[in-house]
Amino acid sequence: MKNIAVLVSGGGTNLQALIDAQARREINGGEIGMVVSSNPEAYALERAKQANIPGYVLPRKNWPSNQAYTKALVRLLQEMGADIVVLAGFMTILTEEIVQAYPNKILNVHPALIPSFSGKGAYGLHVHEQALEYGVKVTGATVHLVTAEPDGGPIVLQKAIDILPWDTPESLQRRVMEECEWKLLPKAVDLLCRDNLKVEGRTVKIIGGHVIV
Ligand code: GAR
Repeated sequence: MKNIAVLVSGGGTNLQALIDAQARREINGGEIGMVVSSNPEAYALERAKQANIPGYVLPRKNWPSNQAYTKALVRLLQEMGADIVVLAGFMTILTEEIVQAYPNKILNVHPALIPSFSGKGAYGLHVHEQALEYGVKVTGATVHLVTAEPDGGPIVLQKAIDILPWDTPESLQRRVMEECEWKLLPKAVDLLCRDNLKVEGRTVKIIGGHVIV
């Protein structure tokens, strides 16, 4: 059984999707063993508590740089015996130390079809504002393996939805979460925990075939 650490900063709806998928036995080969929040006020911590999962707070503002923060985070993850790390709405950019400690063992969910609307400054509601402003007709979500380049790691799963003429950033965010993120993330975590991902350069092959979510 792999020990899964979920990193959060806010509402934690993606954490909830993982907790619910685990309860439905859709995550095999791993179990959520800890939740770490960069924000002491995150509602995600309440969700962890309700599910009896130990929650840890590592406030970003207590460290002088992203690198110092990343090193402290890696220490905590290793002390607690985490095998797999899931960034589920985690809003701090982590540095290469975590990638070295967990190579191809970190997943991130991003609320757009990478490489669109990704990288520095593309997080949370801003991503959907950028998509509407650009005028794209489809958007969606991506789950990828984390490398040192923000949002730049090999793509595991993606799902697209249409943008509707009356969409606002908020309505789009909600639909992308419901129809894409909450389905993709548990599936990707399941695949990683079962060692069903094979990374070849930028391409991730799914052992056992194509996944439709
Ligand atoms: C989600 O939409 C997630 O994809 C996004 O923040 C939201 C967190 O919601 N993450 C990023 O933008 C990271 N670049 P949640 O706390 O309810 O899961």
